[in-house]
Amino acid sequence: MEKERKLIIAGNWKMNKTVAEAVDLVKGLKLELAGVKEVDLVVCPPFTALCEVSKLLLDSNIRLGAQNMNENPAGAYTGEIAAFMLKEFSVRYVILGHSERRTYFGETDEWVARKARAAHAAALKPIVCVGETLEEREQGRTEAVLERQVRGSLAGLTREQILETIIAYEPVWAIGTGRNATPEQAQQAHAFIRGLLAGMYDDAVARRVRIQYGGSVKPSNARDLMCLPDVDGALVGGASLEVRSFADIVKNSI
Ligand code: PGA
Repeated sequence: MEKERKLIIAGNWKMNKTVAEAVDLVKGLKLELAGVKEVDLVVCPPFTALCEVSKLLLDSNIRLGAQNMNENPAGAYTGEIAAFMLKEFSVRYVILGHSERRTYFGETDEWVARKARAAHAAALKPIVCVGETLEEREQGRTEAVLERQVRGSLAGLTREQILETIIAYEPVWAIGTGRNATPEQAQQAHAFIRGLLAGMYDDAVARRVRIQYGGSVKPSNARDLMCLPDVDGALVGGASLEVRSFADIVKNSI
C-alpha cells in the first residue's frame, strides 16, 4: 500500500568523519542512491564537513542537514553555530533535541522549542527528537514522557511550521545499543505521537506530519520498521557511517 506521507531517511553522523572521510562517504552515497526518488534522503555531517559536503550535493537527490544549532540570530555565543551560518551551505534540515544533546548538554524541552522556532524563522526544517529512557519505559511512563516532550519541544510552532517539522521518535534505550524497538513498540509510540498532534493542532496536521523512527536502524530491520503505518522514515546513527549500510537501509525501505 502506498503511504500518504513520503518516507524521509536521514543519516546522523554525530561526532564522526574528517572532511576527507565525509567527502568519500558522500561520493559513495551519491553513486548508490542516484536513482532514488521514493524517499527523501538527508545526511547530517558534523559542522566542519558541511562546506565540502554541500558542494558535492549540489547536483544530487540528497539534502543536507545539521546536527544542532543555536537559537540566537548571531553574537557573543562562543562555540555556537547560528542558522544563517548553516544556510550559507544550503542546509535544509537541522536535528534538534537529540537525546545526546538532552543528556550530555542539558537541553530541555523549552530550549528545544526555542531552537525549533528559530530554525523555522530561518526556513530550516527541524527534526525534533523525542524518546523515553529504559527506566521510563519499564515504569510504564513512556506515553507521559512522550507527551511532555512533544508538547514542550514543539511549543509555539504555528500550523504552517509544524507541517514543515519532522519528529523523530528515538527510544533512548535503542540508540547505539543494537537493540531496536520492536515494530509493535514503534507503531504504538508513533500512533500516540500522531494522536497528540491531532489534539494540539487538527486531524489534517496529524495526517501530514512525518514521524521518523530512530534507534539501531539497520539494513536487516529497516523494512519491518518502515512499513509500519505511522512510521515515515528513519533517523540513522551508526549505520549511516558506511555507504553500504545506509544505502541498504534506503533500498530495503522502498
Ligand atoms: P543509532 O543512532 O542508529 O546508532 O542507534 C540513532 C540516533 O542517535 O539518531
